[in-house]
Amino acid sequence: MALKKLIAGNWKMNGTTQSAMSLAQDIGDALAGSPALGDRCDFLVCPPAVHIPAVRQAVTKQGAPLAVGGQDCAAFEKGAYTGDIAAPMLKDAGCDYVILGHSERRTIHGETSALVQAKAKHAHDWGLVTIICVGEQESERDAGEAFNVVAGQLAGSLPAGADASNTVIAYEPVWAIGTGKSATPQDVEAMHRFIWEKLQEKLEDFGKMRILYGGSVKPDNAAALLTIENVDGALIGGASLKAGDFIGIAKAV
Ligand code: 13P
Repeated sequence: MALKKLIAGNWKMNGTTQSAMSLAQDIGDALAGSPALGDRCDFLVCPPAVHIPAVRQAVTKQGAPLAVGGQDCAAFEKGAYTGDIAAPMLKDAGCDYVILGHSERRTIHGETSALVQAKAKHAHDWGLVTIICVGEQESERDAGEAFNVVAGQLAGSLPAGADASNTVIAYEPVWAIGTGKSATPQDVEAMHRFIWEKLQEKLEDFGKMRILYGGSVKPDNAAALLTIENVDGALIGGASLKAGDFIGIAKAV
């Protein structure tokens, strides 16, 4: 049976408190205007950390069926970790999810799968659902290494105790992020099948863990990408910054 899709927005480092609240309200209004969407999809937005409380407040006030998540968390509960944000802090701010191991963190901040795994373990301990990102660089795909790279990231990043209730996988080929060049449906189908098989080896309730696709998802390619077998939703960057596009992606599905 097909899983309910998760339509997740990663707002990255964009916006102000005011614009974040407006965006959340616009998404909430659009969801209220199309109640049937909520039967088919779950919705999540991941604002910059400082905007989480305002977004949480706006969503709660509206009663919108919209979950809120962080974009990263530390592997520690508290202490001398300047600039970091702990999982219990996200929880306290009203988050239910956290994105971990996004390629921008793996590349720009040098995060390893071992660190992602430690963060995920910690996030699970605090009751957050983790969205663990995997995906190959273009050079790795060209070298025929895409499947090996993703297998390594999956094996290294999922902590013990990961299951369908606390973990979502996001496959984001790095060369498709923010480039307007999404992976082809054939590539997505092959990789999602591969990830599904890897999860099957690793997990008891493998069939139910969601696997999202991310990388230049827009309203006009959403139907082709999100109806592929084993694609259980999308992790959306640029197009999640406009309520119309974000909801348009869900409508296309
Ligand atoms: P774009 O949708 O802008 O390509 O970003 C994808 C992404 O990185 C989501 O995490």
